[in-house]
Amino acid sequence: MSKLQITDHGPIREVRLDRPEVHNAFDPELIDLLHRTFLEIRSEVASGDSELRAVLLSGSGKSFCAGADLGYMSSIASFGETENIADADRLSGMLRAIRTCPVYVVARVHGAALGGGTGLLAACDLVIASNEAIFGFTEVRLGILPAVISPFVIERIGPSHARRLFPSGVRFDATEALRIGLVDRIVPPVQLDQAVEKELSALLTAAPQASREAKRLVETIGSALVARDEETLYGETARWIARLRASEEGQEGMQAFFEKRPARWVRAIPPLTAPPSSGEA
Ligand code: COA
Repeated sequence: MSKLQITDHGPIREVRLDRPEVHNAFDPELIDLLHRTFLEIRSEVASGDSELRAVLLSGSGKSFCAGADLGYMSSIASFGETENIADADRLSGMLRAIRTCPVYVVARVHGAALGGGTGLLAACDLVIASNEAIFGFTEVRLGILPAVISPFVIERIGPSHARRLFPSGVRFDATEALRIGLVDRIVPPVQLDQAVEKELSALLTAAPQASREAKRLVETIGSALVARDEETLYGETARWIARLRASEEGQEGMQAFFEKRPARWVRAIPPLTAPPSSGEA
């Protein structure tokens, strides 16, 4: 039985962590499975004949993810420095593969999202959480650090909240997670699937190529703003829109607008099955 369940719902691929007995804590096998899954998505989309439009990242059972597998973490000390660093690199590589996934990634968060679990959701583009979920950069309480997840988390919540929360490892509720920008929406648990479907339905009205390039645009401009290379920045945005409006999708979208009809990529979302779990919060 795989620790990762992958299900296609039409143009949406659900990637579900499936170690409910440990609240989906990730061990090296699960990290590797996640990494490979997102690399495969990259190749599939790059091949040009993929129908995939978005990924839904979720968890089986009571929680989204309780972070790194603490049993495994505690054994790392005996591996030696080289293997220890290589292990952290594998986690970082997995998070980067999610972060740079060419299609939109939505996290569906319920139960606990702690430690590395917050890194997972922070690597996604949109985070929808149950208002009963709990969060925390709990590593320091275990004597470790939210180090590998920090680029992803700090980008979302900013240094001031990280400065407040990282050193204490305090747990916080969904309202606080929403306030600091760790999650984007919170809803009662019974409305979680509906809220996810609504967001994914909205995404399916966007042109696939334009949507993927919009994701790349944010990545490129975000980095460029940090570098403050404005000439390159403005030149690049101009070339970007010029290319997209001349593309087949750009042409179809504008034509559909004037003809008052849906563009040909608009699709209805198929029903998403809820994770087959018992006692989910
Ligand atoms: N790694 C390995 N096992 C974990 C785990 C983790 N990160 N989180 C939970 N588990 C295991 C527990 O050891 C327990 O195993 P057992 O049934 O063999 O005793 C099982 O999952 C259920 O956990 P339990 O604590 O009994 O459930 P709960 O509902 O009372 O609490 C959590 C759930 C997630 C809030 C709690 O387990 C927790 O705080 N986990 C640690 C999370 C953390 O700090 N992660 C940061 C790692 S970077």
